[in-house]
Parts: sequence; C-alpha cells; structure tokens
Amino acid sequence: MAVERSEPPFRLALPEPTESYEQDVEYCVVDTGTGWTEYRFHDYDRLYTIPGLYEKLFYDVLQCCSPAVVCDLLAEQLSAERVDPAGLRVLDVGAGNGIVAEELRERRIGKVVGVDIIPEARVAAERDRPGTYADYHVVDLTALDGDESASIASGGFDALTCVAALGFGDIPPEAFRVAFDMVAVDGFVAFTLRDDFLSDGDTSGFGGLVKSMLDSGELEQLGSTVYRHRLATTRDPLFYRAVVARKRRPHTG
Ligand SMILES: C[S@@+](CC[C@H](N)C(=O)[O-])C[C@H]1O[C@@H](n2cnc3c(N)ncnc32)[C@H](O)[C@@H]1O
Repeated sequence: MAVERSEPPFRLALPEPTESYEQDVEYCVVDTGTGWTEYRFHDYDRLYTIPGLYEKLFYDVLQCCSPAVVCDLLAEQLSAERVDPAGLRVLDVGAGNGIVAEELRERRIGKVVGVDIIPEARVAAERDRPGTYADYHVVDLTALDGDESASIASGGFDALTCVAALGFGDIPPEAFRVAFDMVAVDGFVAFTLRDDFLSDGDTSGFGGLVKSMLDSGELEQLGSTVYRHRLATTRDPLFYRAVVARKRRPHTG
C-alpha cells in the first residue's frame, strides 16, 4: 500500500530558484503546524519521520524519476537475457522508504531485501510500504561484523539495486563494493550515478571503481541511459546515468 499523498499534513516551500546550492546542501522548509523549519535534503532521518514528505518533495515537486527509469532498464535487460523476474532476489542498497522496492515488485521481481544506514528509513518503509521488503537491514556496510555480513548474505542475492544513493556523502565506493560482493556471479547490478561521476575527471571514486570493474571483466555492462534524475531547487535539471550490468566473476582482491 502506497503512502497517502492527497492531503499532506504539512506545508512545503523551496528556496528562490535564483539561489544555487550543491546537491548535498540543498534544503527546503516545512511547516507541520508549529512553524517553518529548515530541512537539508540529506537529513533523511528527519525527512522520513514526516509521512509523505519525501514523496512530495522529491517526486511531486522536483519530479524525480530515477526508480522508474532504472527499474525499467533492469526489466528490459531481464527480458533480453530471458530471465524470469519472479525468480530474482534483489539486494536494494540505500533503500530509504521503499520506492525502489515498490517499483521492482510492480515489475514482478520476486524478492527484495533492503539495506540502509539509518533506522528511520526502515521505520518509514514499514510505515509507507508494509510487506514490500522481505527483510530490511539497518547497517553500515563498511563496518559489518561477521554475523551481520552472514545475515545479509543469507538472502542469496542474484541482483543489486542502488538508486539515487551513491556519492554526495551517502554510499561510498567501499560500501558499494561490499554489497556487490554479496551478489552471485552472473547476477544483475542496476544503479544510478550523477553523470559526471563516471567521467575521467571524477573525484568521487565511483568513476575509477566502475571503470576497473569493467576493464577487469568483473562487470559486463548491458545497458545505460542518461536521463533527468530530478530538478534542482534552481529548477534546473540534474542529469544522472542509469546502468544495468552483469557480474561476471568474483572479486579476487
Ligand atoms: C536519496 S535516498 C534514496 C532512497 C531510495 N533509493 C529512493 O530512490 O527513493 C538515499 C538513501 O541512502 C541512504 N544511505 C546514505 N548513506 C548510506 C550508507 N553508507 N549505507 C547505506 N545507505 C545509505 C540514506 O539513508 C537514504 O535513505
């Protein structure tokens, strides 16, 4: 069941479009009935506690379409590779309140397990989309102990999704690597990244990681598209790249 979006119990306002901010310092102001309060876009713990705010801000007002774009690309590649989505077990990293899992389940993906670093995300996913995730782990992938690692890996994943969550102080390359290593050989990997993160001048670390995975044959790219991820608060478009690939061999270190 999707979150009720018709009459949000809050008012939301954005900065003037003439003010420009980098993505990790963009903000909005919200009034839940007690006056206006500032929320940075990356204050996910606070955003998720207000039902419907995340969807209103990113999906309705700023027109985010990343989950649908990457899930369509994945579904297209599954069909081209003649893989039945119903048998797929997906690890969704940076899962938030479950929008990606909802999109995956709408495309008949059999099982989705979520991972996020903050407990508020799991609480919001259970509140907004109960039953969508088969399981949901609140962990820091870069600091897993043996039990946590074994517990997540027991999901037996043959696909990884990571949408709108790489870079910008969110999921670092090392965490992506840990999640990637939990996916079986021949598994599918679907992710989105700001387009310039994959350029030669990239300093996020993702350009180098993805390039080395492709060059070594660890990863085979199946499909990729550049698209408008969402609007910035300036109302200018932010372009991302969605990539769907297949893991072709285990990491050898
Ligand atoms: C922009 S939200 C995207 C949520 C969801 N994938 C979507 O498309 O709606 C980014 C999410 O990544 C999570 N995140 C940030 N750093 C993380 C990390 N190191 N490990 C796991 N999740 C992280 C945040 O808590 C947040 O829920």
